[in-house]
Amino acid sequence: PLDEAALIARIKAKLVEQNAVMVVHYYVDAVLQRLADETGGRVSDSLDMAAFGAESAAQTLVVCGVRFMGETAKILSPEKRVIMPTLQAECSLDLGCPADEFTAFCDAHPDRTVVVYANTSAAVKARADWVVTSSNALEIVGHLRDRGEKILWAPDRHLGRYIQEKTGADMLLWQGSCIVHDEFRAEALADLKRQHPEAAVLVHPESPKAVVDMADVVGSTSRLIRAAIELPNETLIVATDKGIFYKMHEAAPHKTLIEAPTRGHSATCVSCAHCPWMAMNGLVNVLAALENPAAHEIQVSEPVRVEAVRSIERMLDFSR
Ligand code: 13P
Ligand code: SF4
Repeated sequence: PLDEAALIARIKAKLVEQNAVMVVHYYVDAVLQRLADETGGRVSDSLDMAAFGAESAAQTLVVCGVRFMGETAKILSPEKRVIMPTLQAECSLDLGCPADEFTAFCDAHPDRTVVVYANTSAAVKARADWVVTSSNALEIVGHLRDRGEKILWAPDRHLGRYIQEKTGADMLLWQGSCIVHDEFRAEALADLKRQHPEAAVLVHPESPKAVVDMADVVGSTSRLIRAAIELPNETLIVATDKGIFYKMHEAAPHKTLIEAPTRGHSATCVSCAHCPWMAMNGLVNVLAALENPAAHEIQVSEPVRVEAVRSIERMLDFSR
């Protein structure tokens, strides 16, 4: 087998040969984040991954993350080849919101505007009026509330409740959750806070309410990285997937970053908050995707794509 340096050299050569760029989420292994940075790709949150993929001149997008991220890239850029290191990288939010059940839910509430989180299948996005990410959900739902619209929200119940509380919008919530963020525990976090009274708490809104309520800053991955730079605190307790520490440390190298505790761990124990599907992305399967793109290609059927692209474009237009 090739060592890390040889894998990286092969991937770099293949990226050039295939006019390909890497689009990598913050939760993915640091070695892939570094490689994307070195090769003109992008490391970012879900919103920026979608926008970057659509605007890139590359013919092939190597999307390192989970399936919905590859699907969104393909929906926005049907003319490009979108490949992923593995087609098995799912998301509990996507899995917990099957298109047929979701459609029945929407059909039962025809008076509501359907707003879905980006962490959903292409088929669910096709049924939606709007797609949002954690970066723009508050603004978009606030805008719909101002227009007097009632909302059907799916799939993350914690994010839905947070938006509802912040905007006061009338929202009916699907009851999905993220298996990573759902594990953060408020009691253990309170213990940790007592040990580090000077620390600020940064929380992704897919976390449970009791954890969000303890946050100094709540937001998407990119918002939390910005907060790490901007906050005066030298110590930060972070409740999101630990993949984020690579960029957070790069952005605020002198700060002390502490993982928020998860279920089953004492406050002093290192948390295990890492998405098993994000962890499936590595150098070996990035190279495999570039060497055998046909076996790693994301496909979205054209009838689904033309429906889904409306709700995604609406979001991108709103955020521009
Ligand atoms: P953001 O990067 O948009 O905050 O999304 C987080 C996430 O859970 C992606 O799976
Ligand atoms: Fe889905 Fe959670 Fe994994 Fe993100 S971290 S891909 S929301 S399961």
